[in-house]
Amino acid sequence: HAFTTSATMSTNPAAQMDPIEEAKKRAAYKAVADHFNSNMRFVGIGSGSTIVYGVEAIKAHLEAHPASEAGHMIWFVPTGWNSRKVIEQAGLVPIAFDSLPADATLDVAFDGADEVDAEMNCIKGGGACLFQEKLVACRSKKFVCIADYRKNQPRLLTKWPSIPIEVAPIAHATVLRELKQLGSVNPKLREHSLAKTGPIQTDQSFYIIDAPFKQLLTKKDVQEGKDGSGKDGVWSVDALALRIKEISGVLEVGLFYGMNGDEAQAAGQQGGQKPV
Ligand code: 5RP
Repeated sequence: HAFTTSATMSTNPAAQMDPIEEAKKRAAYKAVADHFNSNMRFVGIGSGSTIVYGVEAIKAHLEAHPASEAGHMIWFVPTGWNSRKVIEQAGLVPIAFDSLPADATLDVAFDGADEVDAEMNCIKGGGACLFQEKLVACRSKKFVCIADYRKNQPRLLTKWPSIPIEVAPIAHATVLRELKQLGSVNPKLREHSLAKTGPIQTDQSFYIIDAPFKQLLTKKDVQEGKDGSGKDGVWSVDALALRIKEISGVLEVGLFYGMNGDEAQAAGQQGGQKPV
C-alpha cells in the first residue's frame, strides 16, 4: 500500500501536486478542521495514503494551538504498524489500543476508505488493516471518514470491486467456499505480486480474502421495498456484513456501517471535490 509522506511533498514545493493527491489532502485538511481540536485526549489514526495528510493537518493544527496550552497531552491510537509509524514520524505520541485506560473512549477516529456510499457506509481494507481500524472506530465517539471525490458512490461495490475480509489462515479455504454460497463470484485470497510469493499477511498475521458481490443496497433501498436478504446474490450492507461475520474463521469484514458521525461525509464531498 503506497504511502505519500509529507516530507516528500514539502521538500519540493515548486512541483505541481498530482490532482488526486491534492484532492486527498484537501479532504484531509477539511476533516481535521471540522472534527479535531486541542482539547481532545484520545484520537484514532487510520491507515492508508490519505490519512498521512490527516496527520499532517493535525500536526499543523497543534503547532498553532498546542495541547499543552490547554494543560494536557493528546494520545494518538494507531490502527496498525504503518499507522503507528506515521504518528511517530509526525512527532505525535502513540498509545497502543490495548494500553488505553479501561474507561477511555476516543474523541474521534480519522480514517480513509476505499469506497463510501450515500449513507456513509464504507468499504475498507484495501491496505489490509481493517480489523484494528474497526476496533478503533467502534471505541470512538465519532468516526470521520476522509474520502476524496473518487470514493463517493451511491452504493458500495460501484467502482471498488470486492469486500476485503480478514480470515484465520487455517480457515481460508472454507471461508472462500462459504462466500461463494452467499453469492460472491470468484472470491480470492490476496497474494503478493512479483518479488514476494504467498498470501499477504495482516498485522494479526491473518490473511485477506477479496470477495466480489453485486452492488450493495442501502437502508433507503430496503425501506423502498428492495430485497437485500441475499436472494439472487443481492444484499444490503448490514445484512451481508452480519452474515459474513457469522462464518467461522472470519475475524472482521471490511464493511463499516452504522458508525457515529455521519457529518463526516462532508469531508469527502466538499473537501475532496474533483479539482477543476
Ligand atoms: C486500509 C484502509 C484504507 O483506509 C483505505 O484502503 C484507503 O486508503 P487510501 O487512503 O490509500 O486510498 O482501509 O486497509
